[in-house]
Amino acid sequence: MSLLVKNIGAIVGIDESGRERIEGKAMSEITILEKAWLVTEGDRIKDYGTMDKLPHIEDCEVLNAEGGWLFPSFCDSHTHIVYAGSREREFLDKINGLSYEEIAKRGGGILNSADRLHDTSEDELYRQAMERIDEIVGMGTGLVEIKSGYGLTLEDELKILRVIRRIRQTAPLEVRATFLGAHAVGRAYAGRQEDYVEHVCRDMIPAVAREGLADFVDVFCDRGFFTVEQTAKIMAEGEKYGLRAKIHANELAVSGGVEIGVEHGALSVDHLESMGDAQIEALRGSKTMPTMLPGCAFFLGIGYPPARKMIDAGLAVALASDFNPGTAPSGNMRFVVSLASIKMKMTPAEAINAATLNSACAMGESRDYGSITRGKVANFYITRELPSLAYLPYAHQTPVIRNIILKGKQIKRA
Ligand code: NIG
Ligand code: FE
Repeated sequence: MSLLVKNIGAIVGIDESGRERIEGKAMSEITILEKAWLVTEGDRIKDYGTMDKLPHIEDCEVLNAEGGWLFPSFCDSHTHIVYAGSREREFLDKINGLSYEEIAKRGGGILNSADRLHDTSEDELYRQAMERIDEIVGMGTGLVEIKSGYGLTLEDELKILRVIRRIRQTAPLEVRATFLGAHAVGRAYAGRQEDYVEHVCRDMIPAVAREGLADFVDVFCDRGFFTVEQTAKIMAEGEKYGLRAKIHANELAVSGGVEIGVEHGALSVDHLESMGDAQIEALRGSKTMPTMLPGCAFFLGIGYPPARKMIDAGLAVALASDFNPGTAPSGNMRFVVSLASIKMKMTPAEAINAATLNSACAMGESRDYGSITRGKVANFYITRELPSLAYLPYAHQTPVIRNIILKGKQIKRA
């Protein structure tokens, strides 16, 4: 069945160039087609044009956008959506002056979530995660990456990855899975970090690969977590099983994670709150996508990544939510785009490009997602009438989304 959307005020994010990413200066340009129509066929975008040449199409559902704007769905390339419960206790600790690292050292943080995940059934985890999935779908996300990393034992890592698989099979949006066994050292290995890394490489990665549960492998390469050498070892092991790397790097310190990620051809290096010129230089000319998670800097009250410096150096950059219970308890990509504009001085066009095509690229998916392109998956949302593109990040809490179409199907109707 086809869907014809007519009377669109403007289609944003058209791209027929075939490019997989948008770099540097080009990030400030976004193609907009005013007074337009768009038609889907099956789960794909078939065609679009201007209203003065509206085609007659037999046998299709018609949606009148009434001047609303049409945007490509957000692609959220970094989340930890499957977790048990929430962590407001630590939120209060933070208000009272403890840092994220201090909380982690006391056995809170990731280990706290791992304990709770251990005590929660797969069905219950799935139920809680699907509430968050419904929430992000309603806020315009159409492709999401979800990490494990709250298991930290072989059995519990498989459990969380099976929940991600179930979400992938049942949710309306598209899902990619990342194995993050090296998120923290599991309790049974306390004080034996090297042994834990060995366990990740020898036992966990092969088991995850055997069940086909992950697309990517991740490591928290940072001060107080995993070293550059350990990260390299895990990435190399992942490569043997066809798992490309997406690395947590430089959140708490300049960790060496950016350089080792680039060296291993990682798909992305994420966080980047601590970045020097040398790290920007290391990324130049590489295919590794620097990915920023401003919701984390906002929540922790730490410095934001130097987005301007990176874009001005000619890099492509991506944006993602980091949705997790400890450092970013929100998957609102529109707010991420607003933070990018307000706190990192990215223009609305740069921020939207970073949260769509470039974040799709950070999942290796920009051939099918991330822009309004004939033949790409029909993932888009329609807003009410907007005065300009900048209104989207500017009016950051105003609910403007009226219709959501994922894989060609209407998920939300005005
Ligand atoms: O991306 N930095 C590491 N992992 C998450 C936080 C996980 C947690 O605290 O539960 C992050 O910020
Ligand atoms: Fe993260």
